[in-house]
Amino acid sequence: MERIASVADWRARAQSARASGRRVGLVPTMGALHAGHESLMRAAAAAGDVVVTTIFVNPRQFNNAADLATYPRTPDADAARAADSGTDVLVEPSLDEMWPLGEATPTTVHLGPIGEVFEGADRPGHFDGVASVVAKLLIVTGPCRLYLGEKDYQQLVAMRQMVRDLAFDVEVVGCAIVREESGLALSSRNVRLSDAGRVVALGLSRALASAGEPASAGELRARMRAVMLEAGIDVAYAEVVDPVSLVPLDDADEGEGRALLAGLVEGVRLLDNGPVRVIRGNRATSH
Ligand code: PAF
Repeated sequence: MERIASVADWRARAQSARASGRRVGLVPTMGALHAGHESLMRAAAAAGDVVVTTIFVNPRQFNNAADLATYPRTPDADAARAADSGTDVLVEPSLDEMWPLGEATPTTVHLGPIGEVFEGADRPGHFDGVASVVAKLLIVTGPCRLYLGEKDYQQLVAMRQMVRDLAFDVEVVGCAIVREESGLALSSRNVRLSDAGRVVALGLSRALASAGEPASAGELRARMRAVMLEAGIDVAYAEVVDPVSLVPLDDADEGEGRALLAGLVEGVRLLDNGPVRVIRGNRATSH
């Protein structure tokens, strides 16, 4: 595995991979790599791509200075994991390389409404910060496949929108959530939970399981919220949305939906999501 720090070397390496007839698979991360990230690298390697993994803790997507300061940084362990998981090129750019003006860098990709709901409602500017950095990663990397986890479902949908709207020569590949045997979705934030907190957090995957049988959007919402509350989770939202637009579904809707869950456990914000099947509710008015 090669390790690269400069934008110029990274651009040249991706160009030479394409020139040799290979496709580039980009796995963007902020480090603190876990099995969820590994699954993205392995998916890219299995597809035969030259796997370029980036590690950059992007200050422009943090709303809170303390969160940024305490974000886990484990470069040696990350490099070992990346190498073991099929990464060919590990890119670790400095803040100066990525954002010469730091957080004051004015050029921004603005996503509009998709960046302002759910996680975006609680973290103003977060998704524009994500979009701005991912746009830059894609511009430097050039045509590629972009591997993102479904764990951050809103981020995945927002990046699909950006790639489509700005006509990046990029195929977005969404990879399934990796879970512990207990059902807990892997997240860098899980390390902040006590043993008791991890038990409470299982309410998220149980809530998704409670939405396994098709029902109206309202019924599914109510079931999931009840399970989360019973587990002791401070519920931020338990929604059922259109999987592409993230617009909440109502009782007149039928078909594929996506359950989006968020809640606080021991002050740690945890997310989960999964596909659901929505059927028309008895109380739906026809339209
Ligand atoms: O999901 C993440 O880790 C980050 O939001 C990403 C996509 C690497 C952009 O900084």
